[in-house]
Amino acid sequence: MPTFPDNFMWGAATSGPQTEGNFHKQHQNVFDYWFATEPSAFDAGVGPDTASNFYNDYENDLALMEQAGIKGLRTSIQWTRLIDDFETASLNDDGVAFYNHVIDAMLAHHIKPYINLHHFDLPVELYDKYGGWESKHVVDLFVKFATQCFELFGDRVDDWFTFNEPKVVVDGQYLYGWHYPQVVDGPKAVQVAYNMNLASAKAIAKFHEICPAAEKRIGIILNLTPAYPASDDPADVEAADFAEQWSNNLFLDPAVLGHFPDKLVERFTRDGVLWDSTPAELAIIAANPVDYLGVNYYHPFRVQRPDISPTSLQPWLPDIYFKEYEMPGRVMNVDRGWEIYPTAMTDIANNIRENYHNIPWFISENGMGVAGEERFMDEKGIVQDDYRIDFMKEHLTALVKGINAGSNCLGYFVWSGIDCWSWNHAYHNRYGLIRDDIHTQTKTLKKSAGWFNELSRTNQFEN
Ligand code: BG6
Repeated sequence: MPTFPDNFMWGAATSGPQTEGNFHKQHQNVFDYWFATEPSAFDAGVGPDTASNFYNDYENDLALMEQAGIKGLRTSIQWTRLIDDFETASLNDDGVAFYNHVIDAMLAHHIKPYINLHHFDLPVELYDKYGGWESKHVVDLFVKFATQCFELFGDRVDDWFTFNEPKVVVDGQYLYGWHYPQVVDGPKAVQVAYNMNLASAKAIAKFHEICPAAEKRIGIILNLTPAYPASDDPADVEAADFAEQWSNNLFLDPAVLGHFPDKLVERFTRDGVLWDSTPAELAIIAANPVDYLGVNYYHPFRVQRPDISPTSLQPWLPDIYFKEYEMPGRVMNVDRGWEIYPTAMTDIANNIRENYHNIPWFISENGMGVAGEERFMDEKGIVQDDYRIDFMKEHLTALVKGINAGSNCLGYFVWSGIDCWSWNHAYHNRYGLIRDDIHTQTKTLKKSAGWFNELSRTNQFEN
């Protein structure tokens, strides 16, 4: 029977922009703005304005999470809610009161807060004025916002993260046009990656000044997608090696080891796209590694050699070095379009143990998004989501292998506690242990919530 260490943290993850709704929010983030100007970019024209109504319903939501055995909740503070003036980081009273209440309510429900500072939600004003993460001024504004968070909530919150999935910001907002501002520019994306690494290190330095106690810790959340070559042909292996560096090590190495991967720096230098950096900034990155890591894992990255030659793609895009590969026979989550490959959990655990000082880490997201869950409701209205339980079992079985081999994994946070608004896909795919009927804002525990509660109580499950 898969069994987890004592004190293993069984949690759930979500984010401010995906749950709160925009009630009393002063500013728009890039998604709010995008929805206001182009609602058709979102599934069924549903935007983030109400989301899961967490702003109004957090007491009830947290009570349900407690019933689901959720002992830790990872959510985020919205920059656009907490701050009135981004230049001075002056505070918004309603925002301060809201996050104070939420943190206090989590503690009252025996749910440990894990607070993240950025979940894709750049204030749109900072894009309009400065180009967002292209700008080092925005790096410093982020550090001012982070400083306010540490000072306001650091007394009650032990566990912090600077960014959720900065690589998705690089890819989605600056490289492939998935997310607003839909910039498609390889060299800018490279600079954004550097700036976000710098912002994380600078915020970490501030954190340790403000919250020096040993139990206070800060990390970064990375979506690690292990890159597997399509074959053992050296061209495929080389493509997968580049994909690993670009997709994973670009943030993992500076966060844990304090420096960027040499191979990537060499390639960027050769291609004339290396970021603008200073020795003083690189010294800040070197001096401020994370205390621990959050790892979001959903799917692997299958890679083959590119079919374009490096010189033919102008302007520069990283795609000159690799191409995604659809492996025949792969198991798919068809609704989300992602491959299901639990073995990668063991590979991630081993990689962190062997190559990253066996640093403490969490699975900070893992979960199964399914469309049309009404289909699976029983006569009492309970979603019988056995597929979600199976998904978690398979991934946890692979994770425990890594833990038994010595990996220092401290917990598992399922995505998500409650069904939440998922960017362009809005409410199409549901991830929660708790169902949200978005028409009535009624919340109901799914079958998986009962299973999770048992797991969290016993630290083990029957396979
Ligand atoms: C992660 C994000 O990438 O995946 C979440 O941190 C997101 O914000 C989750 O919701 C699931 O992806 P999606 O696109 O189905 O919402």
